Amino acid sequence: MDAPLVKTEVRGRVGLLTLNRPKALNALSNDVIAELAAAMRAFDADENIGAMVLTGSEKAFAAGADIGAMQGWSYMDVYKQDYLGGDWESLKRIRKPIIAAVAGYALGGGCELAMLCDFIIAAENARFGQPEIKLGVIPGYGGTQRLPRAISKAKAMDLVLTARMMDAQEAERAGLVSRVVPAERLLDEALEAAAIIASMSLPSVIMAKECVNMAYEGSLNDTLMFERRNFHALFATEDQKEGMAAFVEKRKPDFKHK
Ligand code: CAA
Repeated sequence: MDAPLVKTEVRGRVGLLTLNRPKALNALSNDVIAELAAAMRAFDADENIGAMVLTGSEKAFAAGADIGAMQGWSYMDVYKQDYLGGDWESLKRIRKPIIAAVAGYALGGGCELAMLCDFIIAAENARFGQPEIKLGVIPGYGGTQRLPRAISKAKAMDLVLTARMMDAQEAERAGLVSRVVPAERLLDEALEAAAIIASMSLPSVIMAKECVNMAYEGSLNDTLMFERRNFHALFATEDQKEGMAAFVEKRKPDFKHK
């Protein structure tokens, strides 16, 4: 049997997904994304999982979409398969939080995949970029939209138009990544963060993710109302009663995730 393109492992309440196409620097083929989507959907549906970590290898999180596969495609080939829709687009509908643990290259579709996750923890050797312009194309998996929202128009234009790479320190200063850690700490740091998230009440975690994402998607009046209504809705959960009672009684909450 062929090795999986995405390895999965369960660590406590955390689902770990590892891109496993090292010889091609984890280039994202349709098959890689199909396996990734299936694995993420399975973790999303598993009530024993509260958060996920997506990682690659020490050399590459992912060096982009598979250039070898795309090379010969015509406009009709990409249009008819709705390339970068389907399984690719489905990843944004995963409801549980996903942390991208990025070491090495996160380029093109690799950078876009990291940005599609909920936050990025980077190793000191991480390098981010959108070099599609060198291939005669542009980012097609959210790069032109998520990058200016994550950093700034100036830096996004710089990266997208010149194809230069940004190192981990610059990415942290710019706001693309939430933390930079030594390479050997990367996975532990991401797993620890995911374990903390997974220990929280799952309904609050999912609503928090939906509300933060809404900040990018609607007008401020609408998104503030969306946030408040979700805040109200959490008062229907047992975990809200337990969480507040535990605070008042000075003890740790025992969340049931309902
Ligand atoms: N697609 C397919 N194969 C890739 C790849 C990619 N995106 N990136 C690297 N590889 C393959 C190489 O072809 C090479 O394979 P062989 O050993 O069989 O020749 C192997 O991975 C190792 O790569 P290099 O020898 O190039 O390694 P390096 O250390 O010299 O350079 C690198 C590393 C700078 C990341 C370089 O590989 C590179 O520039 N890769 C392409 C980056 C890129 O352009 N990404 C954007 C892709 S388009 C896209 O993603 C569109 C979108 O918006 C979705």
